[in-house]
Amino acid sequence: MVSEERLSEMVDAAKEASRHAYCPLSDFPVGAAVLLADGSVFSGCNVENAAYGPTICAERTAVVKAVSERGPDIRIEAVVVYTPTRGPTPPCGPCRQVVSEFGPEALVVSVCDGEEELRTDMRELLPYQFSSRNLE
Ligand code: THU
Repeated sequence: MVSEERLSEMVDAAKEASRHAYCPLSDFPVGAAVLLADGSVFSGCNVENAAYGPTICAERTAVVKAVSERGPDIRIEAVVVYTPTRGPTPPCGPCRQVVSEFGPEALVVSVCDGEEELRTDMRELLPYQFSSRNLE
């Protein structure tokens, strides 16, 4: 169970990360924070590219930072996504796949500048996920 206090820290980290977003193409800054089972939090922002395709979302930036700092055995317990919008933004499809690799049951909370918040989890966001089990 992730405490509300922890989630609030993650919201702060995601908001802070969104300030570093590189988004000249969309002007849509996003910040994300992932909480690992060891208690550490990693944040990330979206990094766009003039060639469009190489753009990396905030969620994947955070996950990749976590793996490169903590190693391949990380377990993601929760993800917070922040967008400076009126309504909450859920993670895109590729980000769902990447988060589920390390947190197939992770809590996912999307927050914004409005009152509304979206609380869901990876099971709901990505049913029948493709995983390493399918490679056996
Ligand atoms: N984006 C994210 O960072 N996370 C999401 O979950 C949705 C989309 C970014 C990608 C791109 O830089 C911008 O938002 C507009 O799609």
